[in-house]
Amino acid sequence: MKVECRVNGERRVADGVWEGESLLYLLRERLGLFGAKNACEQGECGSCSVYLDGMLVCACLVLAGQAEGREVVTVEGLGRADALHPVQQAFVEAGAVQCGFCTPGLVVATHDLLTRIPNPTEPQIREALAGNVCRCTGYAKIIDAVQLAADRLP
Ligand code: FES
Ligand code: FES
Repeated sequence: MKVECRVNGERRVADGVWEGESLLYLLRERLGLFGAKNACEQGECGSCSVYLDGMLVCACLVLAGQAEGREVVTVEGLGRADALHPVQQAFVEAGAVQCGFCTPGLVVATHDLLTRIPNPTEPQIREALAGNVCRCTGYAKIIDAVQLAADRLP
């Protein structure tokens, strides 16, 4: 089937989409957007977090066909390599990026948190990011990064 949606503000069309295909597969394998990572494919790790019509979702749990006519924003839509989003910059500066596999999902989830709660407490940060698994950092620097981003964002 054909799926047409807007991704990071651009109209994108994919042909030959399989009915059981995930939004994550569509983004990575058909549209060449490799920011959202493929780890568990079971909604357990958060590495594939994206926005679908402004709602934070695990792209591995959304069917590609469900994106038809809708707006998707991935980590690529938040900032560019030469103009990082303040959340991305904070992750770099706080040392919250080690292997980096979890980082795109954490950046999107943090963006969502700070949109809803501009100055979250540490328990609120931990709760909001509870669905994002990191195997490297021990999370302390991730919390630092979220607090740094919260301090900088208007
Ligand atoms: S790959 Fe989607 S939650 Fe882990
Ligand atoms: S930095 Fe490696 S999994 Fe988080």
